[in-house]
Amino acid sequence: MVQTSSFSKSDWQKGYKSLKTEYSYWVDDIEGELPKALQGTLFRNGPGLLDVNGDRYGHPFDGDGMVSSITFTDGKVHFANSFVKTPEFLAEQEAGKILYRGVFGTQRSGGFLQNIFNLKLKNLANTNVIYHGQKLLALWEASRPYRLNPETLETIGIENFDGNLNPGEVFTAHPKFDPITGDMYGFGVDAGPKSTINLYKVDLQGTLTKFANQKVDGFCFLHDFVITPNYAIFAQNPVKFNPLPFILGFKPAATCIDLQPQTPTKLLIFDRTGKLITLETDPCFIFHHANAYETHTDGNTQIILDSICYSDYPKLEAGIDFLDVNFDQVIPGQFCRFEIDVASGKVNKSILQERSCEFPVIHSAYVGQNYRYCYMGAIAKDSGNAPLQAILKLDVQTGEKQIHSFAPRGFVGEPTFIPHPEGTQEDQGWLVVLVFDAECDRTDIVVLDAENITNSPVATIHLKHHIPFGLHGSFTHETWRS
Ligand code: FE2
Repeated sequence: MVQTSSFSKSDWQKGYKSLKTEYSYWVDDIEGELPKALQGTLFRNGPGLLDVNGDRYGHPFDGDGMVSSITFTDGKVHFANSFVKTPEFLAEQEAGKILYRGVFGTQRSGGFLQNIFNLKLKNLANTNVIYHGQKLLALWEASRPYRLNPETLETIGIENFDGNLNPGEVFTAHPKFDPITGDMYGFGVDAGPKSTINLYKVDLQGTLTKFANQKVDGFCFLHDFVITPNYAIFAQNPVKFNPLPFILGFKPAATCIDLQPQTPTKLLIFDRTGKLITLETDPCFIFHHANAYETHTDGNTQIILDSICYSDYPKLEAGIDFLDVNFDQVIPGQFCRFEIDVASGKVNKSILQERSCEFPVIHSAYVGQNYRYCYMGAIAKDSGNAPLQAILKLDVQTGEKQIHSFAPRGFVGEPTFIPHPEGTQEDQGWLVVLVFDAECDRTDIVVLDAENITNSPVATIHLKHHIPFGLHGSFTHETWRS
């Protein structure tokens, strides 16, 4: 059956326009009623500028980090946004042109002579933003975090955790938080023919300790990981990096990566002392994990790992404009479960949800625990591929699904689950999602009832402007405005 398109490409392209203004205002255009119990601050990060003076970056992941804060207090909403003012960002703004190559698709203009042997990248600080130990940190996995003022969003500077994260060491954009202790776990990768993985723990006082420093065979493209009470788990994608076209200035780094279809994906399972177990499963590519948990039966440990899997590395070929991408040829992401028998090394993989999806999130108290509900962005049709236009709630125990679609003119990103402060069930709370409304050329902050996301939104908050399609973010019950 031929399905009609759920969207118009020109609508989707409009979500990649730069937002050049920094705002701070109370929102006065709200449909529905915001629950008084919804109190706190949602921070979001993503590429705010997609060009310098009209000179476009070659890939949205190369865009300049812009942090938004959305404060919910007493039924009111405040919005603010600010660019992360790294020295590289300020230098490009001053120069009025692109000065740095980007990892995913951006070259300096002037051909390969302007790019050959130029391996200096700018810290984009554009991937995630978290609040931990009273510090607001904008994260980008190929460098150190940038600290911002949570009230004003002013850039304070590089965060080195009291000198414990040295220049040259990097910190993931996907830390995980132990729901019992509040400790933050993170990692950094030094990738090469042999790669080194560092594992970090940061306590609530901000003290960073390195508890593993492990060399592994092969190039490591590790974007995310998961923690359970006893383990930290990575999927090492079976990719090969040919650095020559990058070093010689012909291609951006990420376009020099290829999946090796005959090579297994490795599951790297560290225990909390840093000891590594390596297992293998079918080749696939993973950016994001949803969750993992352990089961123990008769002394036998099994790990359940849920991830979004691609059958190939979904790269943008060099020379293709990302705005012209043909979605029919983009590899769909599918929600998969790995059942890992640690002693025997046997791994069983199954698909729990076939519809193309990304950005899985769960209730923060269930990180590393047996859980039931996962929320994610999904396409609005059953099969094929398209931009994310719907939010999907998956019951991983029963397979039951709920979908809230914003098609044809709405486009979504990662939802955030905010638990009800008095909730006793895993899905009692709200899903907050930024929806780009192409009809009005603005972004709505939509609040859904997480127990039944198919209902009409609890509230739709209309911003005065759009926010370019973003990446990740997080919620804290703290507020800095009243
Ligand atoms: Fe990510």
